[in-house]
Amino acid sequence: MIIDERMVTYINSLDTGHTPFLENLERTAKQDRVPIIRREMQSFLKVFLKMKQPKRILEVGTAVGFSAVFMAQYGEPDAEITTIENYEKRIPIARENFEKSGFADRITLIPGDAAEVLKTLDGPYDFIFMDAAKGQYIHFLPEVLRVLDKNGVLITDNVLQDGDVIESRFAVERRNRTIHKRMREYLFELTHNEGLLTSVVPLGDGIAITMKSHEKREETT
Ligand SMILES: C[S@@+](CC[C@H](N)C(=O)[O-])C[C@H]1O[C@@H](n2cnc3c(N)ncnc32)[C@H](O)[C@@H]1O
Repeated sequence: MIIDERMVTYINSLDTGHTPFLENLERTAKQDRVPIIRREMQSFLKVFLKMKQPKRILEVGTAVGFSAVFMAQYGEPDAEITTIENYEKRIPIARENFEKSGFADRITLIPGDAAEVLKTLDGPYDFIFMDAAKGQYIHFLPEVLRVLDKNGVLITDNVLQDGDVIESRFAVERRNRTIHKRMREYLFELTHNEGLLTSVVPLGDGIAITMKSHEKREETT
């Protein structure tokens, strides 16, 4: 947890909840240990969807479909969501959840590795939600930016890696060092690429909010 646990508990206690379907889906996902967006992220996403009103949404990382159904529920009534998942066991469960939610006509699940699937998409998407394998984000980025609309927003979840990202690589467990290095590279690219504007926010496990920037960065004297 990257911010005080009591603070998170307090913030989440203010949450007024979602539809019974989503509440139930969240409960089942937690019981089955399927990772889904945290409550803090859910409330942020709800507000963001109302502000940005995206019509074409791309999600990288479906799991069992919680966040896709969430976006269908709280986004624009005509928003279309494309979501990518490569874990075979989760794909039929997600499809079943889309059917049961009543949003199957607006959610398209593309099975496969996002590294390959992204190359096949045309876009443009006005909102892209990146929530898959953290170590792959840096590799997905060129294709993600290709299909992101010029006024589009990319939100990446779990960028602060439960706090690991601020540690020296030697303080990180050996098996996590590659992800640690790649996440730092990813955040550096998002924040230093001249064509992008990014804010890293310590919400949930850390999110990065990125826009395509139309202004060339001015040199300051
Ligand atoms: C954190 S979960 C997604 C949770 C989901 N967005 C939600 O909140 O309901 C990440 C998912 O991304 C999938 N994933 C990881 N790497 C992937 C890849 N290269 N291509 C497609 N899916 C991938 C995993 O199998 C996992 O189900």
